[in-house]
Amino acid sequence: MKGVVLAGGLGSRLYPLTKITNKHLLPVFDKPMIYYPIQCLVNAGIDDILIVTGGNSAGHFLQLLRNGSDFGLKRLNYAYQEGEGGIADALKLAEHFAEGDSICVVLGDNIIERNIKKAVADFARQGDGAKILLKEVHDPQRFGVATIEGGKVTKIVEKPKEPETNLAVIGIYLYDPTVFEICRTLKPSNRGELEITDVNNEYIRRGNLTYEVLQGWWTDAGTFESLYRSATLVRENGANRMDL
Ligand code: G1P
Repeated sequence: MKGVVLAGGLGSRLYPLTKITNKHLLPVFDKPMIYYPIQCLVNAGIDDILIVTGGNSAGHFLQLLRNGSDFGLKRLNYAYQEGEGGIADALKLAEHFAEGDSICVVLGDNIIERNIKKAVADFARQGDGAKILLKEVHDPQRFGVATIEGGKVTKIVEKPKEPETNLAVIGIYLYDPTVFEICRTLKPSNRGELEITDVNNEYIRRGNLTYEVLQGWWTDAGTFESLYRSATLVRENGANRMDL
């Protein structure tokens, strides 16, 4: 399995912090934000990793991460996203890199306390389709929200005003190579982006999406409140822990 970290976007919710740099280069306690999703993949045994970024400060990722030596990697791969087409648009750039393998996609502003080793192993056994990770949250309106019936995810709604559950779809996704065909069929949403939620709903329609509920804390870091919270969580509990 290969790994993809999506680190593009304007970071407009963090303006003016993101006026001259990319959101994923901002500090979260003692490391740049993008260190956390990369470490998450490495801890799951995934060492062939693509970083997708864009914008004016894209070159800074190469300067910061180089060949991945801070993570014990021998090399890293990079792709440049033109424009702001959304998560599923950025994912299209990973098709060439994936070379027909399954992929584990991590959004560059998602940070977890523990590790995803079990989910990755379970997906390897599953063989095809997709697997998503869910987490109970107090503010589901901010996320993709999953409805579960009979032990299966039956639908995901992106940022619902009146969420049916408090189960957020976190930004760590496991996909078989058909994900790239699905990405090609998507139409832009109301916010003008190709939505990862539409990808996941297509896997549900095909009857090929499984889920696990993540243990330990999870946060995104894309708003002032969540960026602040993420630094506090990392400082007080540590992130990407292998001992829990
Ligand atoms: C994205 C996804 C959303 C998911 C979230 C996790 O939201 O669209 O479904 O729950 O990441 O961080 P965004 O951060 O692009 O608003």
